[in-house]
Amino acid sequence: MESPRYVVVGGGPAAASAARRFAEAGQSVAVLTAEPLPPYDRTVLSEGALADPPAPIPTLWPDDAPWRDHVFVRTRTRVESLDPDGRTLTTDDGTTWAFEAVVLATGAEPRRLVVPGADGPGVHHLRDAEDATALSAALASTQRLVVVGGGVIGLEVAAAAVQRGVAVDVVEAGPRVLGRGVPAPVAAWLARVHAEHGVRIHAGRTPQEVLREDGLVTGMHLSDGTVLPADTVVVGIGITPRTALAEAAGLSVDDGIVVDPSMRTSHPAVLAAGDAVRMVGGHGERGVRLESYTAAGRQGEVAAAVAMGGTESFDDVPWSWSDQYDATMQAMGVPPPEAREVVVGGPDSPVVLSFDGDRLVGVCGVAHGPGVARPVRAAAGAIAAAAAVDVEAALAAGADLGALARVLRDAGRR
Ligand code: APR
Repeated sequence: MESPRYVVVGGGPAAASAARRFAEAGQSVAVLTAEPLPPYDRTVLSEGALADPPAPIPTLWPDDAPWRDHVFVRTRTRVESLDPDGRTLTTDDGTTWAFEAVVLATGAEPRRLVVPGADGPGVHHLRDAEDATALSAALASTQRLVVVGGGVIGLEVAAAAVQRGVAVDVVEAGPRVLGRGVPAPVAAWLARVHAEHGVRIHAGRTPQEVLREDGLVTGMHLSDGTVLPADTVVVGIGITPRTALAEAAGLSVDDGIVVDPSMRTSHPAVLAAGDAVRMVGGHGERGVRLESYTAAGRQGEVAAAVAMGGTESFDDVPWSWSDQYDATMQAMGVPPPEAREVVVGGPDSPVVLSFDGDRLVGVCGVAHGPGVARPVRAAAGAIAAAAAVDVEAALAAGADLGALARVLRDAGRR
């Protein structure tokens, strides 16, 4: 293969879709990823991959795709430095790569718990396939698990573990679970489902110490004095964008590599996409880190298109989901914390409409089975247009999620 014209740094969905976009345009591209596997779908790591038997981890790298001929992937390869003006980068094996443009899709690190005893065996984080394999193996011999963090990762792990017969406590610092971005009625509904499965949620408390005997985890001491027995701990307290490479290269970084909606960084030869970026434009002055799998994929495409001289920009309405037990939660849009909320749907399928004035800015719902997908996905057009919604009609739809979907779809058409 000729020496590649473009380089993508990373191995997640943003990297995969950027590489694919270059390759489909007939351009040669190198993908440099620190992980041992070519890009794969991380979303199963906190769900099916922890089940017994584990669900396989889907690859984002189909062997038989025609575009693969233009892509050169190098796994277990860390990029150590980047020279945007010289248009080169160096990897940890000492190789220097020249490029016309580079896409940084370096992702994010799980935040670490900083209390005594938190470093060492028995305390797990969950971000990559190796983490999931290690945690799944640990769960096989775990009687009691303490999950730190009642966010999406923490609750998905709690559901997977309790279904394997493990006793589970969740410790959440905030006043309720899913405090970041999920409306209270939806979070409360899911918390009740967890309680029905025997998961105990301890909100408003933080870990003070991971207790150990002979090096092995025996429990956790909480801020209110409670001691929870445990033999395994999982920490899911959020992520920090991986920006060290960009920062050392002199790019603008502010809790994320700063990009515009065309995924341009502060240097014209460097684009960036996915969990590593903070996108400025259209989301308030400081911009937004979307932390969304689907957004990362689209951002990767935009970055590649713009690197090749195109004029695309990211204007998707972010959509995300979480599967816990037989329940599916879905969310569309990024409502600001001060949004006005109207609860529609039924008691077994709460759906929250978030408004800025009269304009729809977000929809989030949950139910047993996939039912909420209909109204949530139907709202994409209305949210993109910041349209008004016939709230009376939405309320009148009641538990009929199909009828609610029609109301929301119609709002987007007006
Ligand atoms: N003790 C207990 N809880 C804590 C602590 C702490 N010391 N610090 C933070 N928390 C809580 C937060 O209050 C929050 O409810 O941890 C939770 C973290 O939730 P998220 O921010 O949603 O992060 P996480 O669940 O780790 O997910 C990380 O992975 O799949 C993606 O969409 C997901 O982008 C998200 C990322």
